[in-house]
Amino acid sequence: MDAPRPELALVPRPSRLSTRSGRFRLDAATRLRVTAGAEPAAALLRTLLAPATGLPLEPSPDGTFVLALDAALSGLGDEGYGLTVSPQGVLLRAARPAGLLRGVQTVRQLLPYEALLQRPVRGVAWNLHAVEITDVPRHSWRGSHLDVARHFQPVSYLRRHIDLMALHKLNVFHLHLTDDQGWRMPVAAYPRLTEVGGRRAESMVGPAGGDRFDGVPHGGSYTRQELRGLVAYAAERGVTVMPETGVPGHVRAALAAYPELGTDPSRGLGVWTEWGVCENVLGTGDHVLDFFRTVLDEVMDVFDSPYVHIGGDECPTTEWERSPAARARAAREGLAGPAALHSWFIGRMSEHLLRAGRRPVVWAETGVHLPLQCTVMSWRDPGGARAAARRGHQVVQADHRATYFDYAQRPGPGEPPAQPGVIVDLRAAYGVDLAPPAPEPDVASRLLGAQGQLWTEFVSTPEHIEYLLYPRLCALAERVWDGTAGLPDFTARLAGHRARLDALNVPHDVPPALLPVPR
Ligand code: ACM
Repeated sequence: MDAPRPELALVPRPSRLSTRSGRFRLDAATRLRVTAGAEPAAALLRTLLAPATGLPLEPSPDGTFVLALDAALSGLGDEGYGLTVSPQGVLLRAARPAGLLRGVQTVRQLLPYEALLQRPVRGVAWNLHAVEITDVPRHSWRGSHLDVARHFQPVSYLRRHIDLMALHKLNVFHLHLTDDQGWRMPVAAYPRLTEVGGRRAESMVGPAGGDRFDGVPHGGSYTRQELRGLVAYAAERGVTVMPETGVPGHVRAALAAYPELGTDPSRGLGVWTEWGVCENVLGTGDHVLDFFRTVLDEVMDVFDSPYVHIGGDECPTTEWERSPAARARAAREGLAGPAALHSWFIGRMSEHLLRAGRRPVVWAETGVHLPLQCTVMSWRDPGGARAAARRGHQVVQADHRATYFDYAQRPGPGEPPAQPGVIVDLRAAYGVDLAPPAPEPDVASRLLGAQGQLWTEFVSTPEHIEYLLYPRLCALAERVWDGTAGLPDFTARLAGHRARLDALNVPHDVPPALLPVPR
């Protein structure tokens, strides 16, 4: 197949696109006609095009580039849009503001790739090929998860991450804020969470179970102001930031800050310096529940996402089995045994979120019963997503064999150190299982979509993050938006799309040997 014209190599592919003859030229004289409610999309268009084009794109009642919000177009849903480009003008229409924001990203991709450069460009005609596009996503959850607990990243990088998500029409930024190795979420009621839990003395070198450490302290945390700013920045791009503060496992950083949260408060535990599954978990006293309700209150105060992730993965139960207080709690609650405290704990946190009008999201674990109001992230096996949807849960597909981009994308010594054991190549990412079981429309409606995961045990720099995400996240974004094109069609478009990634300095193809050496 011939590589398509780069500017028609749209990723993700629109659900319907036909080309027309001619082109529309954006220049200094182009004016925007903006209907009520479409101002944020016009502002985003100006912001995105300004660095390279310098075009003012001023508003005018007789502008030839129209951005229109029209509730009558309800068939386009929350995020669909229609885009008509002719030599005389451009018409971008949607029923809802988010649809216009998606359409703005399509306009950006239709321009010569130089429009994405972050510096003034001269000598390029800003032509848009004439097209007729109607574009509606198949899935409402199109996510990208980033672990900033294992390796902290500044907000400036998170903004860039969101920009790249928005370019690919992804809409949920899952921010993994806490783990055994670091607590990054500011909580005014409990400042030691970040003061103590935000730093570790050093990090394990190599995969879990190793015995070498780098001797290099690592730390960082965000301020409320930074995170609020991030939420607003993301909203301007049609992206929701979903926070994750995980319980009742993966809490060693919190235990280092507040030992009374543990099953044995007399112990002095440091922030974990190892990788793998830590056996220390939360105690089960009322004061622990109250503590994490307060944490969630502050999380909800900063993040307006309707969905709030509370972790729930990889929670060893040996400490509860050894603890008389935990065994007594299990008996008092009428549970079958201490292991059932795992789902009991998640149940209490879920209730708290539901009372506040939010929806709890939890990583699925085999054998852990979750309240049906929990949205499940299915990561262990592809069939888990369907099984959970059949039980009545909303589900996000996060199957590690297709969506864990901390696994290497190809075998071989040329790749930087990665999570061992699995290869997730472009084909695997594109192959993420989203097929709704046809005879079960209810089940299909509960499969919200999918997201890519980037755990960062072995990934400390933005360049390394982006090397791992791109182009695999492009493949996932494509599948979850439309997903009917097939791999050959996608890879042909990706060849053109790479010029955009280059323009944005995304190291999608930098030989790993040139990347900073990760720990
Ligand atoms: C996970 O990978 N522990 C959700």
